[in-house]
Amino acid sequence: MNRSLSDYAARRLHFAIGSVISANSPYNASIDDLRAAASAAGQEFVSFANYDYIGIAEDDRIAAAAERAVREYGVGVGASRLVGGERRFHRELERALAAFLGHDDALALVGGYGTNVSFIAHILGANDLILVDALSHSSIMVGAAATRATVIPFEHNDLDHLEQLLRDHRPRHKRALVVCEGLYSMDGDCVDLPRVVALKDRFDAWLYVDEAHSFGVLGKTGRGVREHFGIDSRHIEFTMGTLSKTLGSCGGFIASNAKVIDWLRHTLPGYVYSVGIPPPVAAGAAAALAVLEAEPERVARLHHNARFFLDEARRRHLETGLAAGFAIVPLHFSTRQNALDAYRLLLSHGIYAPPIVQLAVPKDKPRLRMFISAAHTEPQMLRTLDLLGEFAAARGDTVAEAGLAPMTQFRVLEQGATAPVAMPFSTQRDGASPAAAGAAAAAF
Ligand SMILES: Cc1ncc(COP(=O)(O)O)c(C=O)c1O
Repeated sequence: MNRSLSDYAARRLHFAIGSVISANSPYNASIDDLRAAASAAGQEFVSFANYDYIGIAEDDRIAAAAERAVREYGVGVGASRLVGGERRFHRELERALAAFLGHDDALALVGGYGTNVSFIAHILGANDLILVDALSHSSIMVGAAATRATVIPFEHNDLDHLEQLLRDHRPRHKRALVVCEGLYSMDGDCVDLPRVVALKDRFDAWLYVDEAHSFGVLGKTGRGVREHFGIDSRHIEFTMGTLSKTLGSCGGFIASNAKVIDWLRHTLPGYVYSVGIPPPVAAGAAAALAVLEAEPERVARLHHNARFFLDEARRRHLETGLAAGFAIVPLHFSTRQNALDAYRLLLSHGIYAPPIVQLAVPKDKPRLRMFISAAHTEPQMLRTLDLLGEFAAARGDTVAEAGLAPMTQFRVLEQGATAPVAMPFSTQRDGASPAAAGAAAAAF
């Protein structure tokens, strides 16, 4: 291989992640080896690094559905569905997703990342405007970089800023799209959806909500951020979600009204020019969706666990940043070294929670990002937090008062209620410009 390419790659890697990878890198770890090492040491292996929100990763019903699909249809589908034809399970999955979310129809693609990139790049044209939360996922930012529309980021969850941008820029554009996430994957805070809906209606914009981390997580039955706030799905033009998080599979989808989905089904590049979802992947996701629908107590358990984890973290004076107490709780450290050492300490006890120190979050906000699952037990969570609490105290890396950290407050409406609620919102202001913050928000 040409040596200059290897040198370039090494330099770029160092620039991206620096010294973190030089020894005992926490990244791309072999979970099977870590699990085996914990078992050999007589430890229970516990992961806070996977999105198994409702605890179905090892559910036999899902494995059995995937197995049946492989036997019946094979491993792949052999072509783009547009021209290669689709299989029965494709439409069954899409109809089930649409019905669950209260939309007319849905379109599923092979990856959540590609779904966002393709959709955001495709949906609007040169005379149009896209307003994105500055801490949006990398896939949204990459899609935004590829659109011909004007893209302006608004500061994270700062809806006064969004309003100001709509007031200033909306009149100069033919169409406008507001893009936000239900639950933000690096900070664990939610969007103030009632206010976003009111704003996009007032300024005649469309709304795209990425529910990657809120699907199966927010709302009494896991129908996402709109259920959490009691907002009818007709107020949301596009719901995006992934099959890889709560549903434990792989793929992305967009749910919307029938005409929109029909249009996308014939034109969305990530769908038209890419292969259809493989049979076991689609069947596994459909089986997981059926479990989610049939067993809402899993969502209740997740809510309990997440709240419990956040409260106990705060009781130990750990810095939890913007966490709202739903499935994702970041534990911030003041230095990258402390985050790395905290990760290594946990790992020595069989607990896996890799540090997020540079990629995906601003450099000065290193953290362990904890994904909470309905399957976690209270003893597992307490053991983890006891270790971290003692570690942080010994390093002097605690916050003075429990609960001092900014927190997003919510009043959850019962399902079916429609009145928007006014809420005090904290915004993350770390001195970065919206564009810089957006560039830093290449969240996993
Ligand atoms: C907000 C958000 N959107 C989209 C994606 C991409 O989804 P997938 O991992 O299923 O490709 C992610 C992945 O973590 C995400 O956090």
